[in-house]
Amino acid sequence: MGKLIQIKNLVKKYDDKTVAVNDVSFSVDEGSVVSIIGRSGSGKSTLLQLLGLLDKPTSGSILLNNQDISQFDDTKRALYRRKKIGIIYQNFNLLPEYSIKDNICLPLLLDNEKIDQAYFEELVDLLGLKQLLSKQPYQLSGGEQQRVAIARAFIIKPILILADEPTGNLDKANGDRVMDLMLNTAEILKTTVIFVTHDNTLAKCAGRILEMSDGILVTSTM
Ligand SMILES: Nc1ncnc2c1ncn2[C@@H]1O[C@H](COP(=O)(O)OP(=O)(O)OP(=O)(O)O)[C@@H](O)[C@H]1O
Ligand SMILES: [Mg+2]
Repeated sequence: MGKLIQIKNLVKKYDDKTVAVNDVSFSVDEGSVVSIIGRSGSGKSTLLQLLGLLDKPTSGSILLNNQDISQFDDTKRALYRRKKIGIIYQNFNLLPEYSIKDNICLPLLLDNEKIDQAYFEELVDLLGLKQLLSKQPYQLSGGEQQRVAIARAFIIKPILILADEPTGNLDKANGDRVMDLMLNTAEILKTTVIFVTHDNTLAKCAGRILEMSDGILVTSTM
């Protein structure tokens, strides 16, 4: 199996005192699922933001499919992210004035890209959203909203899904279901996933667990 991600000596300093990511190196196999755990402030979200091209590292390199994205300028970074990376946040971030269908397709609509109807229907099926498509976000439960956000992340056929505490705003039963659906979708579509969680049981749903502490990657269990 090929390496989708190769990170070497990655550093992110917000200022002289805050080294949020401190000399982190690891690689991720294509198609695998990795979870990131660690205390609050340990650098999990920062690491995910660097991987998601939302921010630029201070030093070090990030190879995605053997291409060094860490040196991209702002325009290239935004374009790469929009086309290749699906991001899921703790608070679903759906647009209230749009239908569920439009929320799912939004990344394509913004880029004037055609919707692959068969793929759209597959996603809707996998995530159990069929009955919800003409509704609006306020008419949905938290778990349903997050399933929509997951479909929106997958609609671009991303090479990588990044999820920062995707179950953080959900109760246990809903959180478990959302995690299950996200990972099942990724498995069927053969998409690599990296997710952050505070829940050690959910972390074990991944094939591999990375633990951050004070910006440093302390353990990596296979
Ligand atoms: N935009 C920013 N500017 C300055 N410092 C920041 C910024 N974002 C994060 N930090 C700092 O970087 C460190 C790592 O923060 P980060 O958000 O990555 O942690 P985290 O592991 O995701 O924490 P949590 O579990 O609470 O979400 C912290 O010390 C934080 O205060
Ligand atoms: Mg965080």
